[in-house]
Amino acid sequence: MNQHIEAAEPRSVEITVAGKTIQAREGETIIHALWQAGLGREIQTGCVGGVCGACTVTLRFKDGRRGGTDLACLRPVEEGMEVFPFPVDALAGPPPVSDPDEDKLRDVFPTVDRCTKCDNCTIACPMQIPVMDSVLRMQKGQFEAVAEDFTTCIHCGLCRAVCEDKVLPHTMGLWVRRSLGLSEDHPALDQVESIVMSDSAEAEWEYLLNCDDDERLKRARKFRKEGSLT
Ligand code: SF4
Ligand code: SF4
Ligand code: FES
Repeated sequence: MNQHIEAAEPRSVEITVAGKTIQAREGETIIHALWQAGLGREIQTGCVGGVCGACTVTLRFKDGRRGGTDLACLRPVEEGMEVFPFPVDALAGPPPVSDPDEDKLRDVFPTVDRCTKCDNCTIACPMQIPVMDSVLRMQKGQFEAVAEDFTTCIHCGLCRAVCEDKVLPHTMGLWVRRSLGLSEDHPALDQVESIVMSDSAEAEWEYLLNCDDDERLKRARKFRKEGSLT
């Protein structure tokens, strides 16, 4: 007996983007919905895979559900979602120094002690990085832990944009990582050569050049949720 099962059509949901109302298919991302509606230019994009941090948006819901900030290339649409483009300008940070400690950090970033522990930066981070806790670790000079915290940072700048006290958390995190990289005895440097020469680096290039978009999106979501692809 031929049992042919029709795939259910995705439900249609209504969203607004920058004040324009469009119909989208449940499960697709905000960016895909915009492309389908011919409004791709409403939100800037780069990688469309959760890596470059270009497609930052703020979200609100008509029924009072919690909104916030997110990446339009990863966030699925939901009924009643209101999307506002929220581009964050890049900020060139100060150059790294070797053997960084909390005093050197304070010289370059006196902002580090302005933190009022509001946690807005952590809530805004689309990569679930514990940004506020990391700022507190920066104040104590716990830089190996800070470098670990910012491993999955995609430099979208949202934590900086929402910080009313202008603490610059992500800019400091990047400075810490780069400064540790300059220090001769940092263990990460010993690993660089073996990573670059490894088969896994070749496999990553193969993936980047040839992988299809759906698979790339699936992996980006996994990395965002778990901080790892394994
Ligand atoms: S948003 Fe700014 S003030 Fe608030 S916890 Fe983060 S760094 Fe501190
Ligand atoms: S730490 Fe800041 S810059 Fe990095 S991903 Fe999170 S919000 Fe974006
Ligand atoms: S377009 Fe690169 S993170 Fe969304």
